[in-house]
Amino acid sequence: MPLPRRCTAALAAGVLVLSLPASSLADEARDALIVETILRIEGFDLQGSAKAQAAVARYLKSNWAGERYLDLIERFTLKEEAPGVLRLALEKSDTPMGAEAAALLVTLGAGDLLIKTLHSEDDTRATRAAVAISHTGAPALVAELPKILADQSRAVAVRSAALSALYGKHPAKQAELLATVKAGKLAKDLHQIASEILMLSRDPGVREEARSLFAVGQGNFPPVVELVKRKGNAANGKQLFATKTCLVCHQAGGVGINFGPGLSEIGDKLDKNALYQAILEPSAGISMGFEGWEVTLKDKSTLVGIVVETDEDLTVTMIGGAKRTINKGEVSTRKKLKQSLMYPGLHQLMTPDELVDLVEYLSSLRKAG
Ligand code: HEC
Repeated sequence: MPLPRRCTAALAAGVLVLSLPASSLADEARDALIVETILRIEGFDLQGSAKAQAAVARYLKSNWAGERYLDLIERFTLKEEAPGVLRLALEKSDTPMGAEAAALLVTLGAGDLLIKTLHSEDDTRATRAAVAISHTGAPALVAELPKILADQSRAVAVRSAALSALYGKHPAKQAELLATVKAGKLAKDLHQIASEILMLSRDPGVREEARSLFAVGQGNFPPVVELVKRKGNAANGKQLFATKTCLVCHQAGGVGINFGPGLSEIGDKLDKNALYQAILEPSAGISMGFEGWEVTLKDKSTLVGIVVETDEDLTVTMIGGAKRTINKGEVSTRKKLKQSLMYPGLHQLMTPDELVDLVEYLSSLRKAG
């Protein structure tokens, strides 16, 4: 993130601070000021100042994942901090910050740390490494993913993450995956994730073919009046919330990204009937403030997401939580979508029993006390 270079007051204060004895200011505030200052000085020679180096080292140690953490490491190419950046890329692999950390590892020339983690025996870490690799898009890292797919001894979670990383974001490559499935060349235990990837494709042709290929959920879903009578298993529903992509767009029970409405107290707002409706037919009633927009720019690129407007700019929040701010002068057209941004047909990724469990879980989410 580029910083404004004209904050002369802060700069002067920072330079002053660099020359003061350590006891003059609370240590942490002093380090933070030094960090803000040197980030603004173009061409600052960190190696040339032992004091600044010490301040940076202390700052990074006590501000892991803090506001300036990645900026500092990137600006001064601090390769020795790669293990901390790796931890961030793994632990926050589902957030915009984790994505930034993954990309920084590649910039630092430390992409091999992600490869090593991907091939390690720790399944959780390997799964996250696959997600992080998809954020980087770096060809040398992406090239490792097929090896995981080919290794039947790896856990299905790790192979599923590798498959998503390879095909999830690339409608152009999804036709390739479709062909692999059709030819019977995809391992059976990956059919679940493949159907998710393909049925949620932005390419309607791919979605259509996938739907007939997997023939999932078609016609065998009991009507809502039947479903509401059933009692589900909320603990299982909580897991399904995470595995059936809900957390890509919703926060509940401390996990997930706030793209769609938060669901942490949804049981107070919607009864089971309404919960089923929200999942089965997202476009039937779109929550206020969460309408989708399609914004076309003058350079012909298209953004789809939730739009917040100021006098000069539009900020589009996209699925996954990444934001892009555009000057209104760059916008060519904008159109409110009739469809919800929530994917249609998510229930087709589940059996009826699983949907009942998921709704049982959502309906248990209530205000504490
Ligand atoms: C691609 C993003 C996305 C995914 C994935 C997604 N949702 Fe949504 N969801 C939204 C958006 C946006 C809204 C608000 C617009 C609307 O009402 O359709 C919404 C609305 C809802 C609502 C209504 C909330 C309210 O306050 O009225 C519920 C309930 C819900 N989603 C549940 C789920 C569940 C359960 C899953 C997983 C099976 C899921 N969503 C997956 C984006 C998503």
